[in-house]
Amino acid sequence: MIPHYGIQLETLTQRYIAAHPRSMKAMRTAGQWMPGGNTRTVLHYDPFPVVIVGGKGSRVTDLDGLEYIDCVGEFSAGLYGHQQGPIHQALEQALKGGLTLGGPNLWESQLAEAVCGRFDSIDKVRFCNSGTEANLFAVITARAYTGRDAIVVFDGAYHGGVMTFAGGGSPMNVPFDYIVLPYNDAAAVRELFAGQGGRIAAALVEPILGAAGNIPGTVDFLQALREQCSLHSSLLIFDEVKTSRCGPAGVQGLHGILPDMTTLGKYLGGGLPLGAFGGKQEIMDRFDPRLAQGLKHAGTFNNNVLSMSAGVAGLTQVYTPRRAQEFHEETEAFKSTLACKLEQAGLPIRLTGHGSMFTFHYGHQEPLSVSDVNETSVALRRLLHLRCMELGIRLAGRGDVYLSLAMTPGDLQELSDGLLQAAGDVLRPPAG
Ligand SMILES: Cc1ncc(COP(=O)(O)O)c(C=O)c1O
Repeated sequence: MIPHYGIQLETLTQRYIAAHPRSMKAMRTAGQWMPGGNTRTVLHYDPFPVVIVGGKGSRVTDLDGLEYIDCVGEFSAGLYGHQQGPIHQALEQALKGGLTLGGPNLWESQLAEAVCGRFDSIDKVRFCNSGTEANLFAVITARAYTGRDAIVVFDGAYHGGVMTFAGGGSPMNVPFDYIVLPYNDAAAVRELFAGQGGRIAAALVEPILGAAGNIPGTVDFLQALREQCSLHSSLLIFDEVKTSRCGPAGVQGLHGILPDMTTLGKYLGGGLPLGAFGGKQEIMDRFDPRLAQGLKHAGTFNNNVLSMSAGVAGLTQVYTPRRAQEFHEETEAFKSTLACKLEQAGLPIRLTGHGSMFTFHYGHQEPLSVSDVNETSVALRRLLHLRCMELGIRLAGRGDVYLSLAMTPGDLQELSDGLLQAAGDVLRPPAG
């Protein structure tokens, strides 16, 4: 329950339904063929999601013709914005050469070179089709490499729909031998490894706990994981599927804490499906297909020319290390300025995350783990989401904000003004 709130959820919901008749109808039709009209759970929100028909630059348009600044940013995969020049050119060139060629192509080694050149912890890499797959392969690799079973994960973590640890796990999880610890609890990490280190294959961690509210891992916590994994010959896997866009070399680069393996995905394919897992040479070389007892890793579309070529253009022509550093600084400044404005306006909201990916939390404390995220924050984000759409800003249904490279200074100003207004509108009673 939000104290002293302004516009009510019921009012916003009624206005939303009235503003989106075509989306409502299209979602009803979709519901005849797909459960709830949905094929990707995270895209659902009440009363129904708008259908998106196109995107250009920093904006998207819905089926009712309404335009929004796109802060859904495809949950971080939309880093490049819409209709990005070099990426589209690379795709057109790749298309001319034909699809499904059934052999190694020249793009994949270029993309591998770009990835390995970027992340000091990745000597060698393999591609797959999604972040979910990347995490599955990383965990299975760790089990095969160490000959152990247990995987340490963290409360609230999301590593794909089959390894999700919000609210005590999911019946859809693959049945590994998980040990679930609280996030940002270095003491719990040390205690666990002291007692059970010998059976732990790997610790799998998001350096920023994303879906649970963009909660950054503290340096102390991430370092404790690094130390304990080294001490007990377990592998440390950083799930940087989202966070590898934070600066030139992800969160591992920002903190100088290097894992044994890293998983990547989202923006890596330039907007097309792609995942990757990589790490130390001695681990990854087990996949050498010339080895009689080598590990096998298959996937028909692992090196598909569209994802490969778009990924190469994205990493080498657009999101170069220099641009990534600038974007890191610009978006950190944006987040700090917005946080100051919210405070000056007397609104009890904290922003957590990285500059280009952040989440709103109600109150004056920044959460350190998922148990610190209060119900009021969840209610606040629902209100903000609907109010922002009225103001021409599309946040993720659960209230995350993702900034893209396509956003101009004018977009960012409009966004900052809109977010501030929306926060005031939903938290303060209307004047008079
Ligand atoms: C941290 C993290 N890991 C893994 C995944 C799964 O990636 P994908 O949706 O590409 O399977 C996600 C997706 O949101 C994620 O946020």
